[in-house]
Amino acid sequence: MINVLVTGGAGFIGGNFVRYALKKHPDWRIVNLDKLTYAGRKENLSDIEQDPDTASRYQFVLGDIADASVVDPLFDEEKFTYAFNFAAETHVDRSIGDPGGFIQTDVYGTYVLLEAGKRNDLKRFVQISTDEVYGSIDEGSFTETDLITPRNPYSASKAGADRLAYSYFSTYGMDVVVTRASNNYGPYQYPEKLVPLFVTNALEDLPLPLYGDGKNIRDWLHVDDHCSGLDFVCAKGKAGEVYNIGGGNERMNIEITGLILKTLNKPDTLIKPVEDRLGHDRRYSVSTEKLQSLGWKSEKDFETGIVETIKWYENNREWWEPIKSGEYKEYYESMYRDRLDKAS
Ligand SMILES: NC(=O)c1ccc[n+]([C@@H]2O[C@H](COP(=O)([O-])OP(=O)(O)OC[C@H]3O[C@@H](n4cnc5c(N)ncnc54)[C@H](O)[C@@H]3O)[C@@H](O)[C@H]2O)c1
Repeated sequence: MINVLVTGGAGFIGGNFVRYALKKHPDWRIVNLDKLTYAGRKENLSDIEQDPDTASRYQFVLGDIADASVVDPLFDEEKFTYAFNFAAETHVDRSIGDPGGFIQTDVYGTYVLLEAGKRNDLKRFVQISTDEVYGSIDEGSFTETDLITPRNPYSASKAGADRLAYSYFSTYGMDVVVTRASNNYGPYQYPEKLVPLFVTNALEDLPLPLYGDGKNIRDWLHVDDHCSGLDFVCAKGKAGEVYNIGGGNERMNIEITGLILKTLNKPDTLIKPVEDRLGHDRRYSVSTEKLQSLGWKSEKDFETGIVETIKWYENNREWWEPIKSGEYKEYYESMYRDRLDKAS
């Protein structure tokens, strides 16, 4: 068996990756180290824990990647071959209100993992970075050699981790690869992010708080394509390199909003333009030529994938309804109540 560490596997992309990788690699055993923050849900992988094909090859460990007293013994015991670092604070809006936790997890946590990997002769460390580290671009697409100019505390923390990971390659010769993916969509995404927030609000006939003029552009990548890209980079990527992973589906937020309402047969009057996010990046765009030249490409047709995703939230109310109470409610009120009041 090949022992693999996945951090943040109780979150959106990490959880989808655990499911993807256990099915794709019958010789992989995955340890999922997750702190279970507000965004982490152990039950996202209950199907994996119950399936006889995967149950014995999956283990959940509750813990903080920034806590060496958890991370070090885990590396010593498990002798991991690969580590995929998904664990992070991930929501730009939350980072604007409270950057400290982002620096602690995204930067310091990555350092603790890198140290443990270095001491234990890890074969490959995959740092899951983001296209947001490049910052905004009005025209054209960022390539991996472009300057990174992150513009909010989330993207700046991720940029710190991205370059720290690289430094373990350039300084210590550790096998590190860095991936920078675009906006993911798919099942199990916490409903603070655009797609699940707007789908679940629309299903409840609540207003959809659309930032600014709604013309901010993101490239949309299905989470399964992100998983296949990460798996591909782990197998075929070159140590010390950065790889963009994109879907080639640039859409304005207002277009995504319209698609959601149309699919759910809900009226446009649910759209409520609200005061913009501070420092809101206008457009993200990455070139994926480098990864394509190695033989990877995204497979999911966007129009099909987004409708499947919308339907997933429609058919899995028992997943998101309990989330949209408690901590979420407080967060939502503090983010949007004033903005929605001003807009009405
Ligand atoms: N969502 C996107 O569109 C996107 C795009 C590109 C890159 N990424 C990157 O992919 C990764 C996963 O993103 P996501 O959207 O799945 O995030 P998420 O917020 O859904 O999940 C994050 C997970 O990390 C865990 N976590 C947080 N702090 C931790 C800590 N200190 N120790 C251990 N676990 C901790 C949480 O409990 C949660 O399970 C992140 O690194 C993110 O920057 C995301």
